Amino acid sequence: MGLLDGKVAIVTGAGGGLGRAHAMLLAQLGASVVVNDLGGSRDGTGSSNSMADTVVEEIRAAGGHAAATYGSVTDDAAAAAMIQCAVDNFGRLDILINNAGILRDRSFKNMTDGEWDAVIDVHLRGSYLATKHAWQQMLTQGEGGRIIMTSSTSGLIGNFGQANYGAAKAGVAGFMRVLALEGMKYGITVNVLAPAALSRMTEDLMPESEETAVRMAPEKVSPTVAWLCTDAAAKVTGRQFCVSGNRTTLLSWQYDVLAEKDSMSEPWTVEAIGEQIEASMDNWPKLLKPMEV
Ligand code: NAI
Repeated sequence: MGLLDGKVAIVTGAGGGLGRAHAMLLAQLGASVVVNDLGGSRDGTGSSNSMADTVVEEIRAAGGHAAATYGSVTDDAAAAAMIQCAVDNFGRLDILINNAGILRDRSFKNMTDGEWDAVIDVHLRGSYLATKHAWQQMLTQGEGGRIIMTSSTSGLIGNFGQANYGAAKAGVAGFMRVLALEGMKYGITVNVLAPAALSRMTEDLMPESEETAVRMAPEKVSPTVAWLCTDAAAKVTGRQFCVSGNRTTLLSWQYDVLAEKDSMSEPWTVEAIGEQIEASMDNWPKLLKPMEV
């Protein structure tokens, strides 16, 4: 018995990198998988069927069940067709992994509107469109579901040269936090993955070595994703998991009260609130660089 026997999953951008690793593992655990990939280049230009087809062939060769879709996650009709593909081929939909992504890095002073829009479109609108159709299907089935949003420490913490990408990735995390609350009464869990792995997207950002290839293999990230899709994770929702190599961390928040007085009294003066905030600053957590997480 596989942990995901009888489940049906969609993985967007599953033609390579992390998406491929997630799709292969979900299939190995018994899920039937819709492999979606536009098959374009790293910056989102171009398209081809071969990336999705290759992964479908790999899954089938390993004895699993898979079907391909080639539409862009930015296209509403293609997103609807992706969910329909799951229903037509496998009868239902239980799991959506929003993974498709592109990069158009540039320091903010040089970033064009086109670079901003393209990245927001794929990551934020793309996650929205696939989730919109998956949500309806999951509600119709009435048996809950699993949704993973792929964010990034670039959005959750920050990274130089990725204003567009960081905004989109923070956006999907905010999207998750609301859907996690709305999904509770339907048994739909929604969580964020902030991965780090060697892929086409990061090959020129990580050291080129055998060790990096092993340490940062996308396959190291997928087990956490797959576990979140199991019945055991039914109550895990609204969480942010950073997965880098074999290390899984939970990125959570806490509220630190910096100044407080009776709210029926006068507002703080600027000087008084300033004094309160300044007095607390030595105890603030430091701003982490993404790779320190
Ligand atoms: P990748 O470039 O290997 O994979 C992305 C896949 O998405 C590609 O196969 C591409 O064809 C597909 N894709 C792009 N635009 C699409 C669209 N409009 N419709 C459908 N498919 C589309 O990159 P990687 O590293 O596997 O990234 C996967 C996800 O993980 C992305 O969302 C990325 O932003 C995120 N991520 C990756 C990190 C890493 O260290 N590799 C770090 C943080 C986040």
